[in-house]
Amino acid sequence: MLIKIEHPYPVRSSEITPEAQYWDRRQFMRMGAAAAGLALAGCAPEDPAENSKSPLSALKTVKTTNMAGSENITAYDDITHYNNFYEFGTGKTDPALNAATLRTRPWSVVVDGECEAPGVIDLEDLMRPHALEERVYRHRCVEAWSLVAPWVGFPLGDLLKRFKPTSKGKYVSFQTLLDERQMPETARGVLDFPYREGLRIDEALHPLAFLSVGLYGKVLPNQNGAPLRLTLPWKYGFKSIKSIVRIRFTERMPMTTWNQLAPNEYGFYANVNPTVDHPRWSQSRERRLGELFKRETLMFNGYPEVAPLYAGMDLRVNY
Ligand code: MTE
Repeated sequence: MLIKIEHPYPVRSSEITPEAQYWDRRQFMRMGAAAAGLALAGCAPEDPAENSKSPLSALKTVKTTNMAGSENITAYDDITHYNNFYEFGTGKTDPALNAATLRTRPWSVVVDGECEAPGVIDLEDLMRPHALEERVYRHRCVEAWSLVAPWVGFPLGDLLKRFKPTSKGKYVSFQTLLDERQMPETARGVLDFPYREGLRIDEALHPLAFLSVGLYGKVLPNQNGAPLRLTLPWKYGFKSIKSIVRIRFTERMPMTTWNQLAPNEYGFYANVNPTVDHPRWSQSRERRLGELFKRETLMFNGYPEVAPLYAGMDLRVNY
């Protein structure tokens, strides 16, 4: 985002996973996981999704909602090998190469600020009350590439309500882990780490706002923001903060990483809007990972149900 590099994405359209094939693959993965479970009986399970005591063991049995129409789901390899995660490098292939150093267990999240029930909560306890579900969402990066992904997680609003935000909790801010040993690239200071993002409380409570812990029926890969990331399909990708360690309710609009760095390029709202160009490039079209030709970008990325959140706002000013 900082440095504009043209990447002709080298994936053939034949590599896209057609939807039907994905659902077949899910069935196959379930059978594979069951077989693996048998083979591993008696061993200490390493994968949290295979540990029946872990809330992640529900990953394979979740109900699915397709919220991307009849569009092809992007291939798993593309979703996991073309990433933005500056804590692991600025190149699109860097996160897949470097993020193995991220330790995602144990993991806890601080929830504080303007709420009645602040606390530090272990990830497993954070997840336990929530029924996991799978949602197929379109995503649009501000750099004009996009993808369709099957995320597993639960609604952000369900989690936030547990902490009882007060009437002063008008915004929610999120922060990523900052640990130079696990994320050596952060020492280079390309961004003002820790990575921070924020939402207005009504945006955060919108049913589309999602917290993801899995992808394609598997535990979320590190490069996609393990163990916990935001997934906001109607906003540019940079709002979907990865590897969250802190959630804070605030009275004032929180500072966010990209907005602080270049406020004229990256607004606080960052709603996908084909009629408002980025100062350095058009936002009217996008290239779906795995496809050759560009397609038109849709207002709110094709999720018009969020429009009432912005009624009466000038979206050219509040970009
Ligand atoms: N979160 C953190 N902590 N660090 C980042 O660099 N990049 C953002 C967002 N979340 C980023 C982040 C950007 S610019 C995008 S487009 C999406 O992650 C990319 O998500 P993906 O790699 O899963 O497609």
